[in-house]
Amino acid sequence: MTRTVTITDNETGKQIECPVLEGTYGAAVISTKALYDELGMFTFDPGYATTASCRSAITYLDGEKGILLHRGYPVEQLAEKSTFLEVVYLLIHGELPNKKQMDEWSHSIKMHGMTHEHLSRFYTAYRYDAHPMSIMAGVTSAIASYYYDNTDIKDPENRLLTARRVMGKIPNVASKCYRYASGLPFVYPDNSLNYVENFMYMTFSWPSEDYEPSPVAVRALDLLFILHADHEQNASTSTVRLAGSSEANPFACVAAGITTLWGKSHGGANEAVIRMLEEIGHPGNVKKYIERTKDKGDPSRLMGFGHRVYKNYDPRAKIIREACHDLLEQVDLNQPLFEIAMELERIALEDDYFIERKLYPNVDFYSGLIYQALRIPASMFTVMFALARSAGWVAQWMEFMEDEDFRIGRPRQLYIGPKSRDYVPIEERE
Ligand code: CMC
Repeated sequence: MTRTVTITDNETGKQIECPVLEGTYGAAVISTKALYDELGMFTFDPGYATTASCRSAITYLDGEKGILLHRGYPVEQLAEKSTFLEVVYLLIHGELPNKKQMDEWSHSIKMHGMTHEHLSRFYTAYRYDAHPMSIMAGVTSAIASYYYDNTDIKDPENRLLTARRVMGKIPNVASKCYRYASGLPFVYPDNSLNYVENFMYMTFSWPSEDYEPSPVAVRALDLLFILHADHEQNASTSTVRLAGSSEANPFACVAAGITTLWGKSHGGANEAVIRMLEEIGHPGNVKKYIERTKDKGDPSRLMGFGHRVYKNYDPRAKIIREACHDLLEQVDLNQPLFEIAMELERIALEDDYFIERKLYPNVDFYSGLIYQALRIPASMFTVMFALARSAGWVAQWMEFMEDEDFRIGRPRQLYIGPKSRDYVPIEERE
């Protein structure tokens, strides 16, 4: 027998049976499709905290247990054994590649690493001190204009080509955001390098010097990219899906995702964490700062803490925390900031305010420290996040394009404005 939930309007006595849908894991969902037709009502769920917006087979996370799976593989295993580019393949194709598939994948991404030469001029329209996320969103959106006529979102082959284009070009776009702000000449990709090495080469190489990315830095960055690659239906991913629902150009959809990621409640938190640690300045000041974040009259929050879904330690934060410890010896990790971060974590995790609200460190709490150690400036942190999350955006966009329930996204509302009234000419208004 199909499981249903009965909804009763206790004013009219009318009842409807809503089917319950079960996934592989996680909470079952109530299909409310018939609600409006049968009862003339919508559901109300600000922040979509209890709304499943789609079916997805890409990522599963259990916020209570701190579990994160990509296509069924625990993120801990991917972080330890895989590479970012392999994870991108997994997210998009659903399976890990064999050697031949991986070689072809890697080659095809490289083949899409260049951007149109004219695009470089687009950067120069920005002020020298423009925030790199603003540049990244603008330039990514501009790429849509180069793939306007020849993008067929209804064709699976063409969608895969789009995925390769996005993943090929996004490191190029991101590196130029950095170089433009730093007054450095743009660097073309070098296809003898792997994905992360190439990004580092385009970002940090000096035209007059040989450049060899440090293997420790490459592995650290690859790890961070894996940990940021996808995270279910978060705000930016949902934005990409919503933009995609209107059949917008996929580069424009990714640009919409970048814009949403920028906010400090989302990907912008990694930059905000470093600024917060700098503001705290010393482990001895942590207690006072934490008190501020608990004060309802003070708008500040403990950045890098809390998550809509994780009510336990974010598994990604756990991995990055360990990586920070490992890196302490090998790269120039900002030890004073790291010590402040550890003290902050220690005090917050023992504090009733954070315990009661189940506020734990999230992925952004420690990632900035690693980025900083790799000489990446704070304003670029969210760009790094966007680079990695492009994998998830593209995979989710592709999945949505194939969804049997594909239709334009169009939420409804609870109207609380004035009732209908007649226009009053300006001379007659008080
Ligand atoms: N510091 C202090 N109090 C907090 C914090 C925090 N970081 N986060 C939540 N709270 C409190 C909040 O004031 C509320 O208290 P009360 O019940 O007394 O009103 C309670 O905890 C529940 O908070 P909420 O705002 O209803 O939770 P939410 O699910 O809407 O917000 C969040 C989630 C991530 C936006 C929020 O925890 C936050 O602002 N964290 C800091 C920013 C941050 O680190 N963002 C990165 C998120 S992970 C990476 C990503 O998504 O990109």
